[in-house]
Amino acid sequence: MDKLRLGVNIDHVATVRNARGSAYPDPVRAAKLAEAAGADGITAHLREDRRHISDADIEALMEALSLPLNFEMAATEEMQAIALRHRPHAVCIVPEKREERTTEGGLEVAREENRLAHFIAPLREAGCRVSIFIAADARQIEAAARIGAAVVELHTGAYCDAHHEGRPDDRDRELEALREMSAFADSLGLEVHAGHGLTFDTVGPVAAFPELRELNIGHFLIAESIFMGLEPAIREMRRRMDAARA
Ligand code: PXP
Repeated sequence: MDKLRLGVNIDHVATVRNARGSAYPDPVRAAKLAEAAGADGITAHLREDRRHISDADIEALMEALSLPLNFEMAATEEMQAIALRHRPHAVCIVPEKREERTTEGGLEVAREENRLAHFIAPLREAGCRVSIFIAADARQIEAAARIGAAVVELHTGAYCDAHHEGRPDDRDRELEALREMSAFADSLGLEVHAGHGLTFDTVGPVAAFPELRELNIGHFLIAESIFMGLEPAIREMRRRMDAARA
C-alpha cells in the first residue's frame, strides 16, 4: 500500500494565541515542528470570522513553509481572491456556518453543482489542487467528480463521535460507509483524503483504507501536545497510520 500522507492542521495553535490576544504560540513555529516530526503538509482554515487563523498567518505560512499548504476555505468570493493571491499547493472547500464550533458536516455539492464548478475553475487554472470536504455519500462524490475536483476529503466526524460516545454500532456503520465511499471515489478517479475528529484511537481503521492518500488531523494533535509535546504526538500519529497500512 502507498504511504499515507499526514497533513497537520494548526488552527488551534492560533486558537490558543487568540484566547489571550498574545503573539504566542506561533502557528508558523508549530508548522516547522510538524515538519520536523514527519508531517507531509500543513493545513490551515481561514474562517470568515477569523476566529483562529488570521490573514497574516496565511501570509507567514506561505513565506516560511517548505511543506505544501492545504488552505481550507468556504466557497466565498473573499476567500477565492485570497487563495488566488497566494496560490497555495491545495485548496479544500469546506462548508462554514458562523454559529458552529467546528466544521459540522460536509459540503452540499450536489445542490450547488453549477455554482461550485464555476467557483473552483479559476483555482484549478491557478494550479491549486482542489479538494471538496464532503460526507461519505455517493451523490456528493459523483457531484464532486462532475465539477472537476481533483480530491474529495471524507468527513470522519460522525465515525469519531460514535466511537468516543460509546456507540459501537453507529461507529461500525459510519466506518463501513467511509470504507465503501473511499473505494467509490477512487473508482471515479478522485484522490481520496479524510479527516475531522481523528485521534490515536480512531485513526487506524481509517488509515487502513487502501485508496486513501492523505489524512488531515488537528484538534487532537494540538490537544495531546499539552501532555506529550507536539513532535511526539505527531510521531505517534504517524506511527499508528503506518502500522495500520503495514
Ligand atoms: N479536514 C477538514 C476539511 C477540516 O475542516 C478539519 C477541521 O478544520 C480537519 C480536517 C481536521 O479536523 P480536526 O481538527 O478535528 O482533526
